[in-house]
Amino acid sequence: MTSESGQNLDFSDQTALVTGATRGIGEAIADALGARGATLLLTGTDPDDIERRNAAAPPGRRYLRADFASADGLQAFLDQLASIDRIDVCINNAGINRVDAVDEIDPADWDAVANVNLRAPALITGVVARTMKRHGYGRIVNVSSIWGHRVWEKRATYASTKWGLRGLTAASARDLAADGILVNTVSPGFTDTALVRRNYSEAELASVVNRIPLGRLARTDEIATAVLFLASRGNSYITGQSLVVDGGYGLG
Ligand SMILES: NC(=O)c1ccc[n+]([C@@H]2O[C@H](COP(=O)([O-])OP(=O)(O)OC[C@H]3O[C@@H](n4cnc5c(N)ncnc54)[C@H](OP(=O)(O)O)[C@@H]3O)[C@@H](O)[C@H]2O)c1
Repeated sequence: MTSESGQNLDFSDQTALVTGATRGIGEAIADALGARGATLLLTGTDPDDIERRNAAAPPGRRYLRADFASADGLQAFLDQLASIDRIDVCINNAGINRVDAVDEIDPADWDAVANVNLRAPALITGVVARTMKRHGYGRIVNVSSIWGHRVWEKRATYASTKWGLRGLTAASARDLAADGILVNTVSPGFTDTALVRRNYSEAELASVVNRIPLGRLARTDEIATAVLFLASRGNSYITGQSLVVDGGYGLG
């Protein structure tokens, strides 16, 4: 890496918003951005947890409470976001999953998953884009999934939102390009987090690992590395794309 490209991965003069940053992939993304100097705005759902984290947070790291499952919860967060005068980087990472086949969809589950995985990224993008336009610079990364490129049984609701998120990425990239705002997707494969441990049995995970050419689940920091580049100044010409980080799973 030349020193110039090294500087392009420097976030020390930038403010980055990462949704769902209290654990898993979002936490790893926040840590990676923080290690390169970003001022961090991070979200989680639990008010007590947020209070504890803010009490212990180093300077430049602030936690905001945000629950995107309900329209009111999202609106309260959007109002807070609109009052922040500078956001250079936005990582729409928060996501939830439900296990369902298309003929088993529970309307309440559909609403919750669609709200968190798709409605929130769309409306958050709208608010941060207005802020980014004022500064003529921005990087937005939406965290989709391999189930935004292909499907797996009983993932009807989840896959619908994750495919939709790639559509949001493409549409946003088109609308915001002229303002220096680049929008991309990172689509993780099987990553070792609470979400995956909840949704797959040990036996399912063992059989999945057998089908991953790199022979293991992803670590959260490996997803963060991909996000970091697309979110950086080093990325000056990639927009509207989806980078699949799956250890070769999709190769078949
Ligand atoms: N893990 C994987 O293998 C994998 C693969 C492909 C894609 N992904 C995607 O990667 C992203 C992160 O996944 P993960 O595995 O790191 O998940 P995770 O460990 O379950 O963490 C989810 C994060 O989202 C927040 N969150 C949960 N419900 C929310 C809500 N209603 N409103 C706002 N925020 C909420 C959580 O906050 P609290 O801690 O407060 O609950 C937490 O910070 C998701 O978009 C997921 O779909 C994951």
